Amino acid sequence: MLISLITVLSFIPLALAQVGVVNPLVQHCGPSNVVCVNRYAAVMPYHFFRPDSFNGTSIPFSATSVPNDTSFSLLNNSNFIVYDRERGLAILGANPTYEKVFNVSEAVHEAPVYVPGLNKLFLSQLAPPAGFLPQLVVDLNKEPPELSEFLSDPPVYAPNGGTFHKGLIYWGASGGNNSIGGTEQRAGIRTLDPHTNKTTTLLNNYFGWYFNTVDDLFVDSRGDVWFTDPDYSWFNALTDTAPQLRSQSYRFRPSTGQVWVIDDTLGQPNGIAISPEGRNIYISDTSSVDGVISSAYPHLHASHWNQTSAHTIYKYDLLDDAVSGEVALINKRPFYYSQEWVPDGLKVAQNGYVVTGAGKGVDVLDCSGSLVLRIQTDYVVQNFAWAGGNLTEFWLMGQGGISRVKWELKGQDLSKSYT
Ligand SMILES: *[C@@H]1O[C@H](CO)[C@@H](O)[C@H](O)[C@H]1NC(C)=O
Ligand SMILES: *[C@@H]1O[C@H](CO)[C@@H](O)[C@H](O)[C@H]1NC(C)=O
Ligand SMILES: *[C@@H]1O[C@H](CO)[C@@H](O)[C@H](O)[C@H]1NC(C)=O
Ligand SMILES: *[C@@H]1O[C@H](CO)[C@@H](O)[C@H](O)[C@H]1NC(C)=O
Ligand SMILES: *[C@@H]1O[C@H](CO)[C@@H](O)[C@H](O)[C@H]1NC(C)=O
Ligand SMILES: *[C@@H]1O[C@H](CO)[C@@H](O)[C@H](O)[C@H]1NC(C)=O
Ligand SMILES: *[C@@H]1O[C@H](CO)[C@@H](O)[C@H](O)[C@H]1NC(C)=O
Ligand SMILES: *[C@@H]1O[C@H](CO)[C@@H](O)[C@H](O)[C@H]1NC(C)=O
Repeated sequence: MLISLITVLSFIPLALAQVGVVNPLVQHCGPSNVVCVNRYAAVMPYHFFRPDSFNGTSIPFSATSVPNDTSFSLLNNSNFIVYDRERGLAILGANPTYEKVFNVSEAVHEAPVYVPGLNKLFLSQLAPPAGFLPQLVVDLNKEPPELSEFLSDPPVYAPNGGTFHKGLIYWGASGGNNSIGGTEQRAGIRTLDPHTNKTTTLLNNYFGWYFNTVDDLFVDSRGDVWFTDPDYSWFNALTDTAPQLRSQSYRFRPSTGQVWVIDDTLGQPNGIAISPEGRNIYISDTSSVDGVISSAYPHLHASHWNQTSAHTIYKYDLLDDAVSGEVALINKRPFYYSQEWVPDGLKVAQNGYVVTGAGKGVDVLDCSGSLVLRIQTDYVVQNFAWAGGNLTEFWLMGQGGISRVKWELKGQDLSKSYT
């Protein structure tokens, strides 16, 4: 009996041994710079292998070796990778464009804020060079747009997140030092009036302790500023003081000065965003990039990559109890585990779709965490902002580039929703 079974099996051709393979994995669809991945490439032909990312190097899905499917190489040369054909192509529209508008340094580029009244996009550049103090501004009144340095009064060191609220830019200032540009600055919340260039400090401590790295932020409808405070400024040598506070997230009320902790469950909370109707809040945990804080190594400024740690966006419901006055985040659940690197910049589009910069590209997710499409870049993207009259120009930036996408996905109108 056993012998005859082996005999039967030996007649099955080897090629049939793998069933269910998605074929082709990738194909052209829609406009010429767009490809579609079929069935999320759920079954790939053996032998395939994707190397792990390591330290500063993000390994994209497209770098997976799949010798038995020639269609896979189409991923490399397209600007847009669609996973959900119907909704993805609708977001892109008939003529989506991707254009790398500026080559910039390998430094982190962050905190993009579009100021409608000036039609300018403000963004930050962190060190290196050490102590770099100005911001960058893209003038969208010019075509092609022009990039210049901008120094506010007084200067603000290392904004790592930004938003626009009631005519002011709100910055999460991430650096701290006793002599930066000749004065002391500590991590906190600062505002810039983009018409006068004047800045103000709204917050610089928690009962005397320095914040670690005020990172990303948004302002809610009553003017409260929600922000994350991970440990990165210590790892990146943007502060001279090792973290004094747990790595966690807060809500700050400028009208009273009060600060509440809102979540202390994430290793390195990073991006933070609110849905257009204010019901949900998203926070990313980028613990895959982490470092050492130890009295044994008092001046160790370094981060390392951990492939199996969290690179995950969490979704929360916002409890806002009119009777007790309690505001809290409840029902935390994992929302999206990024397909590459860590979900850094995080914002919600006008239609509720969640957008995140993750490695060499930007992922677009629906409100249930389904991956709809990806913009692909040749540099690691930190953050992005919508700009232009119709908020359909999408500017993305990171280590080496600033790019512009034109598509149909609109940003939230920050100049209107909260005034
Ligand atoms: C990553 O960085 C750590 C700490 O600096 C180092 O020990 C390790 O060798 C690096 N790994 C790679 C693959 O470069
Ligand atoms: C695609 O690009 C990756 C780098 O992102 C590279 O490792 C890979 O070999 C490329 N694949 C093809 C088929 O060109
Ligand atoms: C799959 O690819 C490997 C490596 O190129 C090759 O040895 C093998 O024959 C291929 N298998 C099939 C079924 O084509
Ligand atoms: C950026 O640099 C690359 C390589 O040097 C060059 O081919 C490209 O034209 C530059 N792009 C811009 C927008 O300057
Ligand atoms: C403060 O920052 C400046 C500019 O980066 C740097 O030269 C100086 O060493 C820093 N001071 C401390 C105590 O880290
Ligand atoms: C603000 O800074 C910009 C860029 O440096 C400059 O063009 C503008 O005149 C400044 N505005 C004021 C009111 O100083
Ligand atoms: C990487 O992260 C995982 C999950 O948090 C943890 O179990 C593991 O110990 C970490 N590895 C290293 C080398 O830190
Ligand atoms: C905004 O959309 C309207 C209607 O589609 C169009 O006429 C107008 O040119 C657009 N404006 C900009 C700045 O893109």
